[in-house]
Amino acid sequence: MSEIRQQADGQVAALLAAQVGVDTASGQAQALFATRPGPPLWLLAEVTYRCPLHCVFCYNPTDFATHEQELDTASWLRVLREGRELGAVQCGFSGGEPLVRDDLEELIAEAHRLGYYTNLLTSGVGLTPERARSLKAAGLDHVQLSFQDSTREVNDFLSHTKTFALKHKVAELIKREGWPMVMNVVIHRLNIDHLDTIIALADELGAEYVELANSQYYSWALVNRDHLLPTRAQLAAADATTAAWRARIEARVAQGGRAMRLFFVVPDYHDGQPKKCMNGWGNVFLTITPDGTALPCHTARMLPGLSFPNVATSSVREIWYESEGFNRYRGTGWMKDPCTTCPDREKDLGGCRCQAYMLAGDPAAADPVCPKSAHHPVVQAAVAAAEAGEVPARPMVFRDRKNSLAMQTSASPAAVVSGS
Ligand code: FES
Repeated sequence: MSEIRQQADGQVAALLAAQVGVDTASGQAQALFATRPGPPLWLLAEVTYRCPLHCVFCYNPTDFATHEQELDTASWLRVLREGRELGAVQCGFSGGEPLVRDDLEELIAEAHRLGYYTNLLTSGVGLTPERARSLKAAGLDHVQLSFQDSTREVNDFLSHTKTFALKHKVAELIKREGWPMVMNVVIHRLNIDHLDTIIALADELGAEYVELANSQYYSWALVNRDHLLPTRAQLAAADATTAAWRARIEARVAQGGRAMRLFFVVPDYHDGQPKKCMNGWGNVFLTITPDGTALPCHTARMLPGLSFPNVATSSVREIWYESEGFNRYRGTGWMKDPCTTCPDREKDLGGCRCQAYMLAGDPAAADPVCPKSAHHPVVQAAVAAAEAGEVPARPMVFRDRKNSLAMQTSASPAAVVSGS
C-alpha cells in the first residue's frame, strides 16, 4: 500500500470534508485547531506490514522486515478507544494488507461502536464475498482499493503479482455491499500516459472518488525514484486529461448523471512547492505502526536523534501531547534559515521533515524541493535526469522481505538512491 502517504498531503482535507463532514479549512476546523495542538483527527492503524503485493513504490519503510512484531487484538482495541477519547473521528485500517489479520472484523466493529468513520485501505487481495459480508456487518463505512494501472501488464508488473482480474472482482464486491469506493492509483513515469484509461476504468467500476496520486519519493519509491519520475510533458498531459474528465463528469452531473470526484495530487519535485506534509507534524495524523510505535507520519522512524513512543508503554494521550517525537517539529519554532524568514513558513511549515533528511541529511533543514533550499540542486538534478530520459541500468527493487533485509546494509537513504 502506498496510498496513505499521498492522501496525507492536502488531499486529506478534501477527503475529510467529503467523508466525515470536517472541512480542515472551515471555521469548524479552525475552532478545533484553535488551541494547538488540536486532537488527532485521523488515526491510521497500520495493523501489519505483511502484504501479498511487492509494489515498487510502497510507502512502508524499507526496513519493514526488521519490525515484524504486531500488536495483539487487545492492544489495538485499547488504542482505538484511547484515540477516540482524544477526539479522533476517522480511523483507517491499513498495512501492508490489513486483510491478512483475521481480527480485522473485531477491530472494525469496535471502531464502529466507538463512533469512528472507518476506512479499509486494501489491495483487494483477501476480500472474498464472505469477508466483505462480515466487514459490512462489523460496520465498515468505506473502502479504498488500489490499482497499479489500467492494463493487466503494468498492474501485475508493478506489484509483482497477478492481481489485475482480482481487483475488478473486488471492485464489484465493494459496490455490491454498498460501500463508497476510492480507487487509488499511484502515478509515475510507467503509467502516467495511461491516465485517460485509468480514469475510464474507475468510472466503469463505479468509484465515487479517484486518487491519482503522483508518486512521492519515500521508502521504496525513493529507492526506485529514477525509474519512476515522470517528465514535465507527461505531467502536463496528465493534468489536461484530468481537467477534461472533470469537465465531462460535471456536464454529466448537470444532466442528472453519476458524480465521480478526481483528486490529482501534484508532485512536489516538479512544482517546487514544499507541501505542508501530513497537514502539519502532529497536527491531524496519528499513525500507529504494526509493532505499536506511534508516528506523526509513516516514515518518521528513520529520522535521527528522535525517539518515538510505543502504545505498549504510553497512552495515546501522552503520545500525542507530551512525547518528544510528536512535539519536535510541531509549528515553526524548530525552523532555521531559510524557513525562519520565509513568508510561506506558516503555509508549508518548511515542507517535509523526512524528505529534508533523505535529501539533505538534516530533518530540520528546508525541504529540498523548495528553490530556497541549499539542497534544491539535488531535486533539480533528479528532474533533469527524468527529462533527459535517463533511467538507471540497475533494475527496480521490489518491496519484499529479502530486499528489505538486504537494504539494511546501506549507509543511508541517499546512498540507496545513488546506488552507492
Ligand atoms: Fe513528511 Fe515524514 S513524510 S514529515
